[in-house]
Amino acid sequence: MTESFDAVDVIRTKRDGGALSPEQIDWVVDAYTRGVVAEEQMSALAMAIFLNGMDRGEIVRWTQAMIRSGERMDFSALARPTADKHSTGGVGDKITLPLAPLVAVFGVAVPQLSGRGLGHTGGTLDKLESVPGWRAALSNAEILGQLDEVGAVICAAGSGLAPADKKLYALRDTTATVEAIPLIASSIMSKKIAEGTDSLVLDVKVGSGAFMKDLARAGELARTMVALGADAGVRTVALLTDMSTPLGLTVGNALEVRESVEVLAGGGPGDVVDLTLALAREMLDAAGRPDADAEAALRDGRAMDVWRQMIAAQGGDPDADLPVARHQEQVLAESDGVLTGLDAYAVGVASWRLGAGRARKEDPVQAVAGIELHAKPGDRVRRGEPLMTLHTDTPERFARAKEALDGGVVVDAQAEGSAPGRRGIVLDRVAG
Ligand code: URA
Repeated sequence: MTESFDAVDVIRTKRDGGALSPEQIDWVVDAYTRGVVAEEQMSALAMAIFLNGMDRGEIVRWTQAMIRSGERMDFSALARPTADKHSTGGVGDKITLPLAPLVAVFGVAVPQLSGRGLGHTGGTLDKLESVPGWRAALSNAEILGQLDEVGAVICAAGSGLAPADKKLYALRDTTATVEAIPLIASSIMSKKIAEGTDSLVLDVKVGSGAFMKDLARAGELARTMVALGADAGVRTVALLTDMSTPLGLTVGNALEVRESVEVLAGGGPGDVVDLTLALAREMLDAAGRPDADAEAALRDGRAMDVWRQMIAAQGGDPDADLPVARHQEQVLAESDGVLTGLDAYAVGVASWRLGAGRARKEDPVQAVAGIELHAKPGDRVRRGEPLMTLHTDTPERFARAKEALDGGVVVDAQAEGSAPGRRGIVLDRVAG
């Protein structure tokens, strides 16, 4: 086959700060998926995009080309409206677990095609695989069947969905080109548009544990994604939410499932409950259920009922005990004072080093590894009290995990009086 462009010319255009033509974009995405554009050429192009950006027209075209690289799912046969949520990734972010069954209570179908963790952020599938028997891989027919019967499904995105993104995401991860707004926006939105949901709520994380460290960049990412969704006919809203400190009191796979079940039982930490409800309200609103009382469905057990059906439908035993680490070690406060710093990135890396995350896609994860927090920023602590408990099956990992926490946990002995107030979890909202 004769190729319409030369990869070197495409790279040079972007390297020199030009805009890629629609034809160049269509070709380079397709040729990369076919293996004609080599990995080293795409990594040079990704770096040129990282450094020089893309205009709105380029981002739209790039996203469309990634969608066209694979199949599109079709939920139009379902009797219920569909709503999906996507988080840009954080530490202790287990929200999908209580959220999907909660929204399904109100007759909305929630297809959560999820991924695995890479680096310091956790992955929803890794978390759910700590439930004995639970199965992540479902066929498209099984996904549709479960949405029809239970209303919610959390499973692996099939390999047919946006294969260009699968290749490109793995490449970006190893070439320091993940944090580019055009590349993140097109990566996320190509998968979500190909999935075929009617409406989408984005949870764009801001802070040390997120890709976007400040509110201005997170706002730009959110606006870019909301516009891409609107262009494709998907009702899209974004919440910008705090990821300067871990979400909830647990980080790590089985530990996070345990906390999610607490939320579904009407308890759980305030920030996890607040964010679950804020995202649920947005999804219900977008799906035409503005009067649904999500708080009541957590309180009265309806969300828990759907969770149990959802887990059982995928072979999991909702009554089985979750695995617990063979080794645990506490990190103690060295002085009296107020916990003023509990850095999300530091805790994420520590949990990863304990075995909760993977360095390469093919690495196994420990279901039991992770961190249980006993204090959050603003809490008063006393010398010798445990600030957190580290969990792992491989105790030789404790030392490196503790190194990651160096400087990330700050107790201010001088802080007097009442503990400083915590800022709300939702920082801003972007709608089309
Ligand atoms: N999540 C994705 O799916 N893609 C990105 O580029 C970043 C986060």
